[in-house]
Amino acid sequence: LFALLLYNNYMIDYKLIAKTIKESKYAVAFTGAGISVESGVPPFRGENGLWEKHGSQFAEISYFVKHPKESWGSLKKVFYDPITDVKPNKAHIVLANLEKMGIMRSIITQNIDNLHQDAGSKIVYELHGTAKYAVCMKCKSRYKINKDILDMNPPSCEKCGSVLKPDFVFFGEQLPALDFNSSIEDSQKSDLFIIIGTGGEVMPAAQIPHLAKRANAKIMEINPEPSSFTNYIVDIYVQEKAGIAFTEIEKYL
Ligand code: APR
Ligand code: ZN
Repeated sequence: LFALLLYNNYMIDYKLIAKTIKESKYAVAFTGAGISVESGVPPFRGENGLWEKHGSQFAEISYFVKHPKESWGSLKKVFYDPITDVKPNKAHIVLANLEKMGIMRSIITQNIDNLHQDAGSKIVYELHGTAKYAVCMKCKSRYKINKDILDMNPPSCEKCGSVLKPDFVFFGEQLPALDFNSSIEDSQKSDLFIIIGTGGEVMPAAQIPHLAKRANAKIMEINPEPSSFTNYIVDIYVQEKAGIAFTEIEKYL
């Protein structure tokens, strides 16, 4: 009944939601592309979804290795150009403030847009890496992505001349072990696990909320559409856009 009560938009009790967040001992957020939509970053699926528009072959590691030039051309158009000037929105900012208040212990994100860090969050586990850097496929030197690098096609390593790869996880690649293990650890320590803006369709990232549930965390979800989690593990479902929801929640923090 409690979840149902919050289900209808006009019935969302933000005072109660803020109280639940403030009373938590170890809150952890798990975010996906939806939290950055109000910052102007297109999601991967659903309305205006990148994969529907551009296909996803250029983001597969087997294709990138064989066709770095073509892949980098698509990556620039699909990822880098759209996120060049984006800024954190209210959802990223309130999560960073909750960390400063000692409430939000970590953010586990599937996003590569760095908006959590730009908003001031310090403990951010990037399950799918980051669009901020590129790494040499041979000597593993790391470069901050800038206009010069994006103007090369394909970008190559100053030290050994090999092709640079964006430092995010391509389809067919392993997740970064450190971030993944820390995410599992924190999800099992959490007593409040807030899922924000993700359809929960991509493994192994999408197994993490289930680990939090199994460790008896209260599961809150903020998403204008139900996800693969909503009817299975969510205790408090806030059917609203993240920026709008956190603008309301902030009033009661
Ligand atoms: N506020 C909150 N949620 C939103 C908003 C919004 N303003 N707008 C859309 N959403 C929700 C959608 O309802 C959907 O559930 O965000 C989710 C976007 O889903 P996806 O585009 O599939 O993004 P995500 O779940 O993060 O994808 C996971 O898949 O392609 C891989 O590596 C990629 O990290 C990505 C992973
Ligand atoms: Zn190199």
